[in-house]
Amino acid sequence: MTDLSRPEGPRIIAVANQKGGVGKTTTAINLAAALVELGQRVLLVDLDPQGNASTGLGVEAENRSLTTYDLLVDDAPLIEVIQPTAIDGLSIVPATVDLSSADIELMSNEKRSFLLHDALRQTAMDRFFWDYILIDCPPSLNLLTVNAMIAAHAILVPLQSEFFALEGLSQLMLTIREVRQTANPELRIEGIVLTMYDKRNNLSRLVEQDARDNLGDLVLRTLIPRNVRVSEAPSYAMPVTAYDSNSQGAVAYRALAAELMEKHNKVAA
Ligand SMILES: Nc1ncnc2c1ncn2[C@@H]1O[C@H](COP(=O)(O)OP(=O)(O)OP(=O)(O)O)[C@@H](O)[C@H]1O
Ligand SMILES: [Mg+2]
Repeated sequence: MTDLSRPEGPRIIAVANQKGGVGKTTTAINLAAALVELGQRVLLVDLDPQGNASTGLGVEAENRSLTTYDLLVDDAPLIEVIQPTAIDGLSIVPATVDLSSADIELMSNEKRSFLLHDALRQTAMDRFFWDYILIDCPPSLNLLTVNAMIAAHAILVPLQSEFFALEGLSQLMLTIREVRQTANPELRIEGIVLTMYDKRNNLSRLVEQDARDNLGDLVLRTLIPRNVRVSEAPSYAMPVTAYDSNSQGAVAYRALAAELMEKHNKVAA
């Protein structure tokens, strides 16, 4: 069966920034949920040994018998590691702390940088009809993140609206350039999204200005505000779009989903 609306298969987006706590996981979960609200079928791959995306979507540790680790290190079929979430249309490959040893265990594997790429292109993929696959990366430029960059079509970079936000970005850009030169020439930057934005705070506005001056069109139009509902939602195992549908955070993540879909011409939002 062919589906003309998705001739190229799912768009694979890695959410990456080696800086910790900038809103990668929050963005991966809430963007995924917002895309689902817009009628998209989404798979979230938790590629962080911290497993925050899995926890945030309600996959308890005891229900993570097969994980991203099995997918990468033990060659488990994708179909066996995918789990549904409470959100219809959103599935996840969960992660546990086991994944932290993948770097070392894969050292002698010649294909170690391509494992996620190959796993996401198993022929079994065709039966799922995903529109998007989002990958939640760890706060590091390690082998896991490189796997994500090689597997992905594009990188979405959350940038916290804080002092020093742009610091470290050149290292990330350098890594992206290296991956382009060696393994994934088509890799694009999906965009840079400012997170935890506080419009009453001068510093947020300065960081935004700085980012737009230096990075131009790469900086997405949508700003994700600092919003307490966003930070509360994971403890209820829900995306903010479900936890408090009218909150500023939910509205912003819906706008982000629409902005990205518009860019991909999936649907003019
Ligand atoms: N828009 C927001 N408003 C309020 N709090 C937020 C927002 N975005 C993220 N946070 C909070 O900031 C903290 C870090 O967010 P998150 O875990 O998404 O970052 P991360 O980049 O995935 O971190 P790590 O690098 O450890 O994986 C969390 O406590 C989260 O709840
Ligand atoms: Mg995270």
